[in-house]
Amino acid sequence: MITRRRFLADGAVVATAAGAKLPVWARVLNVARAAADPTAASPDLVEHGLLLGVDYYPDQTPESLWSEDARMIAEAGLTNVRVAEFAWSLMESSEGKFDFAWLTRSVEILHKHGIEVILGTPSAAPPPWLSEKYPEILLVNNQGTTVQPGGRRFTCPTNKVYRKLSLAIATEMAKTFAETPGVIGWQIDNEFTLQQWGRCYCKYCRTGFQDWAKRKYGTLDVVNQKWGTAFWSQVYTEWKQIPVPLPSNGDPNPGLALDYDRYQSYANASFAEEQLVMLRKICPRHFVTTNNVGAPLDTIDLRELFRNLDFVCHDNYPGFVQIFFEGGKMPPEQVATVVALGHDSMRSVKDGKPFLIMEEQSGKAGQSFFGPQPHPGQLRLWAFQAVAHGAMGVNYFRWDTAKFGAEEYWHGLLNHDRSKSPGFDEIVRTVKELKSLGKAGLESSYVAETAFSFDLDSDWALNIQPGNRKLSYAAQLMAWYGSVASANVGTDFIRLDGDLSKYKAVFAPVQYIVSAKQAENVRNYVRNGGVFVTSFRLGVKDETSQIVDMPLPGLLRDVMGVTVKDYVPIYTEKIGVQFGTELAGPDAECALWADLLTPQTATVLAKYTGAVYEGAAAITANAFGRGKAVYIGADVDAKSLARVLQALLAMSGSKSAFGAPTGVEVTRRQARAKEWVFVLNHAADAQKVTLPGKFKSALSGDAFDGSVTLRGFDAMVLERQ
Ligand code: GLA
Ligand code: ZN
Repeated sequence: MITRRRFLADGAVVATAAGAKLPVWARVLNVARAAADPTAASPDLVEHGLLLGVDYYPDQTPESLWSEDARMIAEAGLTNVRVAEFAWSLMESSEGKFDFAWLTRSVEILHKHGIEVILGTPSAAPPPWLSEKYPEILLVNNQGTTVQPGGRRFTCPTNKVYRKLSLAIATEMAKTFAETPGVIGWQIDNEFTLQQWGRCYCKYCRTGFQDWAKRKYGTLDVVNQKWGTAFWSQVYTEWKQIPVPLPSNGDPNPGLALDYDRYQSYANASFAEEQLVMLRKICPRHFVTTNNVGAPLDTIDLRELFRNLDFVCHDNYPGFVQIFFEGGKMPPEQVATVVALGHDSMRSVKDGKPFLIMEEQSGKAGQSFFGPQPHPGQLRLWAFQAVAHGAMGVNYFRWDTAKFGAEEYWHGLLNHDRSKSPGFDEIVRTVKELKSLGKAGLESSYVAETAFSFDLDSDWALNIQPGNRKLSYAAQLMAWYGSVASANVGTDFIRLDGDLSKYKAVFAPVQYIVSAKQAENVRNYVRNGGVFVTSFRLGVKDETSQIVDMPLPGLLRDVMGVTVKDYVPIYTEKIGVQFGTELAGPDAECALWADLLTPQTATVLAKYTGAVYEGAAAITANAFGRGKAVYIGADVDAKSLARVLQALLAMSGSKSAFGAPTGVEVTRRQARAKEWVFVLNHAADAQKVTLPGKFKSALSGDAFDGSVTLRGFDAMVLERQ
């Protein structure tokens, strides 16, 4: 599990009915929702405007400044704000005593300046009176310690009192603002995945888990069989005996632990769903979403969380990546790849539908310490990168910079003294440029030739039992993604039981759990000509987290054409990998794991060297039907991995028409016959990109023939001539 803690440790709709004047470029969110099914997502019924805005905190700003703020926000070209997601204590000063008068006044002022409002429901941070009166709402972490109030996200997602009070304040807000001119939509809560400890282990979650297990399995006999409770005398005879995986002087049952992760995901998603059902009923004309943090934070199944929401939102802070990975030393080109992974994975949560950046870094990013100062050009570049990966809009975090509270170091568009920040003009320019792409550009579809499996079952199960202490699904996924991303052929994140047919190559590193449905889907994909590239630890387990009772790689053995003769966690051994002619290159080092392969029908692309594994097959390729299945049995070093995956990509026939050096990203978005090519230089130096023909800048109109040179940290949008 990658939690925020681990992450840190590792390094318009203006209601036209109400007579509001629409900005020329804005579009009316004309929603004719089917009232019969309030939970049903209505993406096709919703026409979103261009959402270019800023996160605004009237709750933290003297009222005397609200008009000036609204005027300046409008002058900056921003057309919406998100407000109130952390303002519970000002909206309900004691239980049932609601006051929305201040927020109503703020919304009116914003609306007068043509600014539309996204309201946040405030359940991410309950007021002190609430946790004082109902201490049972507090989250219990994975060590059994009750997390104390004073921060945020310290609450249990299952607790009924907390759910009731969260729904109550959200309902009062909804009733108050359902018809308020200028209000266009809702953000439920704030960053569900951001809990310091990821999951709650309290007594309410325990009961919730028992009920969930009952619904899932029906009888205790099935539970006992699926979890294998005969081991260590764990046979349950009553539902209430089922524990949660808290410290117990022995590792938890892996089946139970995996189901507990699934339960926690469900608990958070169903918490959000309660507010969604209410909002659909009371505010049928408004869109509803929530913001989240993209991969590699992974404690909630985001497909589950966003299933009935209108579109995906996430928060984009390259500065966080800069601060927390590799001690702040990660070069900007590499930061960009981690950020790209976040965008690609979030876009894929709703299968490619354009997403919104609800919080975009607008300056120095810091809480108790500052992150690196963005270089001139980088704020613009990062916003364009989000759009290059499928965003339909960007909201900057935040308008002003807080003069009090835990985020005084988090810089907004205004400095502490309300002067314009160093990035202000750059943001104004960016917003203007993004608007010029119009609705068609910002809502076009991202083009992907390849896909990555993002398999939470494998991720969670490997976190429970990594095999080798250092083996991590998220780290493998990031390494593989980084190796493939530089080919600039576009990458989606999919589930192996989803539609794979449009991809030339599908990558599935450490797919530890493989279901029968996934195996059959992959089999058909390869049979029909797809290239499937996977790795060590393939198909070791089934969905209950039991080891399969067949030779590895289990259900996909026929497709891969190999048997895993033995598998070896690597600690001190020096093991190399020597490549054959197809993948010719310098020998690789094998780091954490070696699956020793015996080919059945596959051919050998690389062999192990050193120790007793000398000569065993390390990488194989199997012709299966019209496609190919490649098994990378060794955890090869980063350089070799990149070389191998790039070679396999080329074999799949996937190739970018653009020649871009390292550090330059090229992505494509299409709408009908039109295509926008985004060229992003994440390096500080100028870089030259070769172009397949004549292009014109969609932003400046400049023409380019065969190549274009970008300044350091520059972003361009090109159209073919
Ligand atoms: C997030 C939150 C914001 C703010 C920013 C900056 O991701 O949603 O409330 O805390 O980060 O840290
Ligand atoms: Zn709980």
